[in-house]
Amino acid sequence: EDSERAHLIEAHELTAKLYNYLLMNTTHGQPALEYLRSRGVSDKQIDQFMIGYAPPEWDTLVRFLEKRQFSQALMEKGGLFIAKGDGSGYLDRFRNRIMFPIWSREGKVIAFAGRMLGEGQPKYLNSPETTLFNKSGILYNFHQSRALMRKTRRVVLFEGYMDVIKSWSAGVHNGVASMGTALTEDHAAILQRNVEEAIICYDGDDAGQAAVLKTIPLLERVGLKVQVAMLPKGMDPDEFIAANGEHVFIREIIEHPVSVTKFKLLYARKNHILLEEEGRKNYSLEAVGIIARLESPTEREFYLKQLSREVDISLESLKQDCFKHWQQLQKMKPQRDNNDNSWNNGRNEN
Ligand code: CTP
Ligand code: MN
Ligand code: MN
Ligand code: MN
Ligand code: MN
Repeated sequence: EDSERAHLIEAHELTAKLYNYLLMNTTHGQPALEYLRSRGVSDKQIDQFMIGYAPPEWDTLVRFLEKRQFSQALMEKGGLFIAKGDGSGYLDRFRNRIMFPIWSREGKVIAFAGRMLGEGQPKYLNSPETTLFNKSGILYNFHQSRALMRKTRRVVLFEGYMDVIKSWSAGVHNGVASMGTALTEDHAAILQRNVEEAIICYDGDDAGQAAVLKTIPLLERVGLKVQVAMLPKGMDPDEFIAANGEHVFIREIIEHPVSVTKFKLLYARKNHILLEEEGRKNYSLEAVGIIARLESPTEREFYLKQLSREVDISLESLKQDCFKHWQQLQKMKPQRDNNDNSWNNGRNEN
């Protein structure tokens, strides 16, 4: 088992180097390199994230690893090869794709994500779950971000590879990505052992914003302070940086996250037309429910005042409704707290 693991890691490390070499030093890699350049990816970024290229032939990697005496069955098990349907051998899993190595927390290459050059489906092809690669426990770029995460006690969460890579160059050296899948409890537990604060910077499209809403409670449950760095509608961090530059990204997005409450209020507001009576009333009630979850009376009043101005309803009425919600929540609470405590027990080991 241990030696299988070591061989698989060795194979992944060699494969990453091969793909990187093919991208940078061969004519086969030229279109891929041009694609990366067109997206503003620099040599430095390619180098730091060991980006590579898997050529279109079906057996480039099979032959490369065969020569080095790796067991083909093991390579299939590790997700690098695919067994041919007729049982006559193996194919490369990744063909004609830009390759992003994925590292373990210890900094070993344990998986890959392969991106198409241009449009098409699937946009990213990932290594399957293997004994090495357990998606729910891996965050992209964790190994490089850990040092600053621990130092600043803060992490910035992105959706994708390019977001992490581009924002790294912009100076965000504590950024990781959950690689599109929903953040898991395992991810949250890993983060909790390294930071106190999380800034969620997901894509500014509907899917991204819905994912923010789901990620917030997971992070809060492990005790992290959460804020949300919001992007303009429809943009992701990579696109924002391409359009506005690194400095604007840092200054206007990363350094100006909004509170969870503010995010939820903005999110709720999108579903209502405030110019219409019904919309205004329904938004008000929904907003009051969000604000009622705040522990601090000062904070509650702060948001209620804003709401009062926004919807033109008296602070007094909003306060009364908010208090009713708050009482309801208090009734449900003792039970919830006990559960939370038991859930946290033994979770602080490093
Ligand atoms: N993802 C995936 N498989 C897909 C689509 C997405 O694994 N078919 C993951 C990738 O980790 C991707 C992330 O989800 O980086 C976010 O998805 P999306 O926003 O659609 O992709 P981008 O990261 O913006 O990809 P790009 O900038 O390369 O177009
Ligand atoms: Mn060996
Ligand atoms: Mn997205
Ligand atoms: Mn995106
Ligand atoms: Mn993108």
